[in-house]
Formats: sequence, structure tokens, C-alpha cells
Amino acid sequence: MHSFGHRANAVATFAVTILAAMCFAASFSDNFNTPTPTASVKILNINWFQKEANGNDEVSMTLNISADLSSLFTWNTKQVFVFVAAEYETSQNALNQVSLWDGIIPAKEHAKFLIHTTNKYRFIDQGSNLKGKEFNLTMHWHIMPKTGKMFADKIVMTGYRLPEQYR
Ligand SMILES: *[C@@H]1O[C@H](CO)[C@@H](O)[C@H](O)[C@H]1NC(C)=O
Ligand SMILES: *[C@@H]1O[C@H](CO)[C@@H](O)[C@H](O)[C@H]1NC(C)=O
Repeated sequence: MHSFGHRANAVATFAVTILAAMCFAASFSDNFNTPTPTASVKILNINWFQKEANGNDEVSMTLNISADLSSLFTWNTKQVFVFVAAEYETSQNALNQVSLWDGIIPAKEHAKFLIHTTNKYRFIDQGSNLKGKEFNLTMHWHIMPKTGKMFADKIVMTGYRLPEQYR
């Protein structure tokens, strides 16, 4: 005959085992989720473009950022950190990356969004390299899981170019 104490212990052990299995399944099943996120960023306006007194180029732009990142969310997703960066090459650096906007998506219901904004962070070059500069806009995301490892990826949008003249 099982005593009450034995039984409570067995139930507790069983519960811990189930919890461990669920954590494992949660992070494991994430590996099989093949998300299909979409993103598009349009430059609606170059508000101004100038060389500062210290010689660095700076540009202000209005962006139309739209994305549907809902497929990144599984039941193991706590939140998603997202940022949009301008990426370009200069003779000094193969990759210059300037973050222009970021946000935290707390839930799947907020993962489809359309944002009309000026760049939240300043777009400044370390020098005077931006005239007529070709650049990419990338949308990066970091998926913060409830359990398991963090996962990051991006969408690259190509073919942007800054004006030939300051304005
Ligand atoms: C912003 O982008 C969305 C999606 O591409 C589009 O439907 C909308 O018309 C755009 N808004 C402006 C002001 O261009
Ligand atoms: C833009 O992205 C494409 C594709 O990833 C890459 O080949 C190209 O070098 C990038 N251009 C710039 C200016 O970074």
C-alpha cells in the first residue's frame, strides 16, 4: 500500500518530469518552425542632408516601415526585438551599420505593423562618405524565447541611394 507521503512525492516527481519535457519540447519544436516573415521599408522623404561642422555627414529621413513578423511567434516566444539598420561600404570599412529605428514586439497580435516615422536614431557617417552612397536597409530581429536559446535573423532590402547633393 502506498502511503500519502509516497503518493505526493510521486506526483511531484511526475510534475517535474513533465515540466522538463515541456521545456525541452518547446525549445526543440522551435527548430522545426520555419517562419516566413516579410518586411518592406520605403524612404518617403529625405528631410535634410548635410555635412556637420566636425566633417561628418548626417541625413534625416522619413521611413515607411511595414512588416509581418507574426510567423516568428510560437508558444515559446516571450518577445521579439526588432531594428532597422542602414548598411553601406566605405573605403575604411567593409560594413558600416547604423541603427535607424528599433522596437520590442511583446506579442503576436502586434507583430504585423506599419510605422511612418523619421529615423529614431541619428544617421551619421564617420566621415564624409554619404553623397550618392548606395546602401541597404536591413530589418534584424532577435527572438527571445521563454526557454532555450535566443535566435536572430534579418531581411536585407537592397537598392537604396542617398542624394548626390546636400540639401
Ligand atoms: C507604406 O507602406 C505600406 C505597405 O507597403 C503601403 O500600403 C502604404 O501605402 C505606404 N504608405 C505611404 C505613405 O507610402
Ligand atoms: C546589399 O546587400 C547585398 C545582398 O546581401 C550585398 O551583396 C551588397 O553588398 C549590399 N550592399 C551594400 C552597399 O552593403
